[in-house]
Formats: sequence, structure tokens, C-alpha cells
Amino acid sequence: MPELAYLNGKIMPIAEAMVPAEDRGYNFGDAVYEYVASYNGKLFCLEPHLDRLERSMGELAFVPLPRDMVRDAILDLFAKALIPRAGIYLQISRGVAPRDHAYPPAGTPLQFFMTIRPVREKPPELREKGASAITVTDLRWGRCDIKTVQLLPNCMAKQQALEAGVFDAIFVSAEGVVREGTSSNLFIAKNGHLITHPLTPQILPGITRQVVMDICRDEGITVEERYYDRSELASADEAFLTGTVTEVLALARIDGRPVGSGAVGPLGKRIYRCLLDRIKDLSSAP
Ligand code: PDD
Repeated sequence: MPELAYLNGKIMPIAEAMVPAEDRGYNFGDAVYEYVASYNGKLFCLEPHLDRLERSMGELAFVPLPRDMVRDAILDLFAKALIPRAGIYLQISRGVAPRDHAYPPAGTPLQFFMTIRPVREKPPELREKGASAITVTDLRWGRCDIKTVQLLPNCMAKQQALEAGVFDAIFVSAEGVVREGTSSNLFIAKNGHLITHPLTPQILPGITRQVVMDICRDEGITVEERYYDRSELASADEAFLTGTVTEVLALARIDGRPVGSGAVGPLGKRIYRCLLDRIKDLSSAP
């Protein structure tokens, strides 16, 4: 089960993957990324991740790498690493060029980099008891719907959460609108239905968010996609984060106060169980 890197067509040990210092991802954060996970040797939601990657490249006017080439590279790396529960990090930058804010000339090759490693599972007690979070002011830019590597505000907020002794931070706009977590989307429950931020440039269109929406449609659970503020968050019956690594993770406490009863709530529990069923179906597929 080797941890491996892929760089522009070559597979190698991760420590050997070197990107030139004038890579625009390094100089400007001019790069997009995806993180895809596998369960039991099967990649989960690969095609939706490829859809979002294509969209991110399009929004930044990259001449996009062909989808089939990206898919083949992912599958080849996955086959070589033989890690059943893997996380594949994939990053594509606008390429290497002398530092200049303007885009480099057309034809500058994009840099395509990946790593594959085992996923670090969340401790079981976090799932059983629920996690804690703090709210922080959203300092990010105006295009959080593009999955770029410019994650400094996310890193700062996550660090602030860890230093406060909690699992994550929830971004709230200066006007009080609740957005999402540092690497997850957020749903709240009130009176048996769910509320989540609509798909706007202020949040990432999460793949797991969409899986949860599909589960809710199948289960007859109503989801309102609309703005909600701090006071609705504070009076929610339940809250949970969704993401490729987070999966569906209940929040038991926010800003030191219990969410609802302060335990993992019934809707979060039910939706997490449905997600696990979908993952099980994936594992039993040929
Ligand atoms: N993060 N919101 C943000 C800001 C994210 O960074 C992520 C994912 C999500 C959830 O998206 P998805 O369900 O597609 O994983 C929401 C990845 C996992 C990361 O940064 O590694």
C-alpha cells in the first residue's frame, strides 16, 4: 500500500515530487484542486468531482485538461497504490512562468499534481457524541464556489478552532449570514426539516452536500436552500457538517452552547446511515 505522487504523467514517491518555484500555484494560489475518497477499493462520486474540477478550471479560464486524461491518471494512480480507503488530492495549476500577475501566454502547460494516501478516519467518539465548533467571521474572497488552493482564511479559522479546543470553525459573513465550515458544508434542522445555504459564490458546491440533498429527496425530508443567520443557527434543533472526509458529522455544541439537546440528533443520524448505505452499495458493485 504505497503512498504515491503523480506529477505531469509520472508516478513517484511523494518526497520526490518537486514543483518549480515559479509555479503559479505557489506564487499566486493560481491553482484548483479536488479531494476524492475511496471506500473498499472503489472511488466515491468520481464523476461529480470531475464535473466540479472542469467547472473550476473553466471559471479561471484555464485551457482545461481533457476529462478522460484526468480520469485515467486518477485511476492509474489508484490502481498502483492499492490503498482500499484512499484519499486522492489533485491539484492543477496554471503552470510555470516568470512572476507576472497577468496570465502567461496561451500554451503554457498546466501542472498536474496528485498524492494518494490512506484516509485518516475520524475518532468514533466524535461521530457518537457529535463535534464542537466556533463561529468566525468569513474573511474569504468572493468566489468560494471555485475550488482554488487559496485556503489561508480556512487554515486560519481551523487553527483558531483547534486552539479553542473544538473541531471546526463555521464561517459567518460580516452581516451575520451562516455560510459553511472550513472544509465542509453545513446543514441545520428545525422542526423536522433541513436548511442549508443556497449555491452562490459564497460557498463551495460540495459533492457530499449534493449526495445529502439526493438522500433527503429519496427519504422525503424537506431541505430549504436559503440564507439563515446566527440566531437561527443558535436555535436549531440539530446541525451537521458534510464533506468528503467529514462525511456527515453532527455538531453537538456551537460557541460553547448545546445544539438542540446537545447530542447527535435523529435527522443527522438517519442521513449519515443513508450515506453509509450508499457507500456499502458502492462496495458491492462489480
Ligand atoms: N474540502 N466547503 C469547503 C470550503 C470545502 O473545502 C469542502 C471540501 C467542502 C465539502 O465539499 P465535498 O463534499 O465536495 O468534499 C465544503 C476538501 C475535502 C478539502 O479541502 O480537502
